[in-house]
Order: sequence, then C-alpha cells, then structure tokens
Amino acid sequence: MINDIEIIKTKSSKINEVDFDDLKFGSVFSDHMLVCDYKDGKWHAPKIMPYQPLTLDPSAKIFHYGQSVFEGMKAYKDADENVWLFRPEDNCNRLNISSKRLSIPELPKAYFMDGLITLLKLDKDWIPTNEGSSLYIRPFVFASGQGFHASPADEYKFIICTAPSGSYFSGEVKVLIEEKYSRSANGGVGFAKAGGNYAGQFYPTQLAKAKGYQQVIWTDDHKHEYIEEAGAMNIFIRINDTLITGPTSDRILDGITRKSIIELAESENIPVEVRKITVTEVVDAAKNGSLKEMFGAGTAAVVSPISAFGYKGTDYDLPKLESTYADFLKKRITDIQTNKAEDPFGWRYKV
Ligand code: PLP
Ligand code: COI
Repeated sequence: MINDIEIIKTKSSKINEVDFDDLKFGSVFSDHMLVCDYKDGKWHAPKIMPYQPLTLDPSAKIFHYGQSVFEGMKAYKDADENVWLFRPEDNCNRLNISSKRLSIPELPKAYFMDGLITLLKLDKDWIPTNEGSSLYIRPFVFASGQGFHASPADEYKFIICTAPSGSYFSGEVKVLIEEKYSRSANGGVGFAKAGGNYAGQFYPTQLAKAKGYQQVIWTDDHKHEYIEEAGAMNIFIRINDTLITGPTSDRILDGITRKSIIELAESENIPVEVRKITVTEVVDAAKNGSLKEMFGAGTAAVVSPISAFGYKGTDYDLPKLESTYADFLKKRITDIQTNKAEDPFGWRYKV
C-alpha cells in the first residue's frame, strides 16, 4: 500500500444536492477525484483533490491525436456498509493493455489500486444502495503533454472520477445489426478501451437511433458476416439451450462481465459455446424459432436483454420467455457483486 497519497478534502460536499432515488447513469459526480501525473519519464504519486475542472494547454495531444484510454468499474455497498469491487485488478491490467497500444506509459499497479481504494474510502457515502444502483468508477489516462508533432506526448494524466449511477439503459434494448460501418479492424485498436473507439461509433449509432434502435451490433469489418459486439457491451446469443458468444480478438474488447458470465453459465451447467457466429445463423434461428434470447453484458449495462434486432430492413422480435438465462445470470452476477451470495470464484474484492 502506498502511504503517501496526499488528500485535499472538499470544503463543501455536494452530496445533499443529489437525489439518490433518481440517479441517471454517470451524470453527477462525487466530491473527490484522484489525479496522478506522468512527467519527466515517470508516474508521480497520486493525489486526491476536490472534483474540479482541469486546465490544459490547447496544444495538449489529447485534443489532436486522441491518446486516451479509460476503464469502467463499479463499487457496491452491502447491508453492513461494507464496500466491494468486482475483479478490479482485471481493470487495472486492461487499462495498461489499452495504454500500451496507444503508446501511453503503463501505470504502476499500486497507484491504480491504492489510489482507487483511498478514493472510495473517502467518498464511501456516495455509494448508492438502491437496487440496480452503484457507484460507477471511471479511471482514465490521457495525453496532457503539448505540441503539434504527431508523436506520443511526454506528459499524461491518470484520473479516477466516480459517479453514483442508476441503470445504463432505461427500457427495452432494440439493436441494429450493422451492414456498412465498422467499429474496429484486425491490427487496430478495437480490443483497447480507447476513447476514439467510442467517437467512431457515435455517428452510425445516431443513424440507428433515428430508426428506433438503442445500440448497433458490430459485425466484422471484412464482410459484415459475423456478430462481434455492441457499442458498450459484449453480446450473448441463446439458440435452443446453448449460449453462444464470439471469441475475443484484435477487434473485440475482452469484457470482464463477458468472461464472468461464461464462467457462471458453465458452473450452472448451461451449455456455452465461444465461437464465431454468423448473422445468417442468427436470422435463420429467429425465423425457425430456435433463437431464444440475445443479451448484452458489460459493467455499465450489467446484463441487458435485447427485445428485437433489425437486419436488412426487417425487425425480428425475440420471444418473451417466462424464465431467461439473462435474468438468471444477471441475478447470479449482481448477487456476487453486492455480497448477497457466496463468491466461489474469488471475484469480489473488499475495499
Ligand atoms: N465492449 C465494449 C465496447 C465496451 O465498452 C464494454 C464496456 O466496458 C464492454 C464490451 C464490456 O466490458 P466489461 O464487462 O469489462 O465492462
Ligand atoms: C462500461 O461498461 O463500463 C463502459 O465503459 C461502457 C461505457 C461506454 C459506458
């Protein structure tokens, strides 16, 4: 544990201004943030300070060349006021995997973990306890170093902000299977949680939204033949009783929820296949009635059932089942995350 995290506390907490019974996703921010600077070839010890705007030089490379990566995590508080994280070291490792791909210097693990834990202890009162709510945590790193030369910056900032949050989606999720645009390509940055991956999705997603869909289902960039992932989630498809999800690759984010759902389903004797799945297979399954469920999985979205998908101008409704894998697995994972159930996997992490 690093002992020297300097803490400057806020003089006026904003907590009484927040309606914890009506939380949107990621739109109000807790009192403090963690900031850590990379300068002179090394990361300097993190500091905690009141949540506040940043001052950056207009030539900071984040604005021009998009060197930025982020993570998404959640903290939960149980009935005894204990605070829990879910597989946080995996987020720390993935942040560094993303950083490496974007030529951002990797962060010492202790700065991430100890910084996060100190911040959460300080802002513990901000962790909501209502069903479906949690404290969403956003660690991110970006290039603060200056200059128009198109090369990696020499200064960076690592920041962690937190936001008491409700559900990511409100209502049913209808998705559009993409036939034209791509989110990522072989050799690209799709596997990284790079800010630019999301910027590139906004335009096609807006087009889909205008047609009544909430998310795009990305397909491979080559022939748009295979189902890959959604904008903010990995995708699971249930055909008859088998749960199928695509393998991770250069193009797909290796989701922590995804791998947990796979392990949970297997431990419950649900047949799971990690394999490529074509759009044609899904459309045929929808037509012959063997397509039972589709759902997205991710930290923000947890497990979000998909009610319908659109493809080549036709909408295919998913059946409304009495009991679903999505509901069952969502309950299993959230019960583990919130300390309502045993955690045989050792995923839960006490703050
Ligand atoms: N895929 C994308 C593109 C995402 O943004 C996310 C969200 O983090 C996921 C998948 C799910 O990953 P995780 O379960 O680690 O949150
Ligand atoms: C998350 O699930 O934590 C994410 O980062 C998705 C984000 C685009 C909201």
